[in-house]
Amino acid sequence: MFKVAILISGNGSNLQAIIDKVKSGALEIKIDLVLSDKVDAYGLKRAKAAGIQTCLLVKEQTWSRQDYDVKLKEALIPKALDLIVLSGFMRILGDEFVGAFRQKIINIHPSLLPKYPGLDTYRKALANKDKEHGCSVHFVTEELDLGPIIGQKCIPVYKDDDENSLRQRTQEAEHGFYWQIIKQLADKKQRA
Ligand code: GAR
Repeated sequence: MFKVAILISGNGSNLQAIIDKVKSGALEIKIDLVLSDKVDAYGLKRAKAAGIQTCLLVKEQTWSRQDYDVKLKEALIPKALDLIVLSGFMRILGDEFVGAFRQKIINIHPSLLPKYPGLDTYRKALANKDKEHGCSVHFVTEELDLGPIIGQKCIPVYKDDDENSLRQRTQEAEHGFYWQIIKQLADKKQRA
């Protein structure tokens, strides 16, 4: 079975969408671990409710960013994962971590990359009067939100959209999209 860890920092709505697809049988993977860097991430509750092992790895004040990456790497290496899925994991990962799992880490980002890497993508799309927005799934490299794109989903931006409505429509698109990319990668591994 294709073994996956899902890394979160918050609500975990994308995590939930993936869990639901696994439960329905549409996505044949094992979610081996859900790891959060935030103690109050609601996604941890979602994972526990689904019977998935969870891990909390909060950065201590004395740790550098690289120290965190080392701890994260140490937590994940023994799992022998096929894929690490960043799902609203709001930490920048350095080469210590990325180098250990090259081509095995994917991220979903709420914009049509390379447009709007980083934060505030909805505000930027609205300020620029974009006609379309969307989400991108990409391999994670040392450059924030700029690794090779695996797939993108476009959505329209309406005249009366505000940040909330645009976020909601984008996240709905994410929920129907991220699991399909994971399935694509799992199927590819099985064929190899
Ligand atoms: C998602 O919309 C995801 O695209 C975004 O965080 C949200 C997490 O929501 N990720 C990033 O901005 C990464 N740069 P969720 O916790 O409800 O899945």
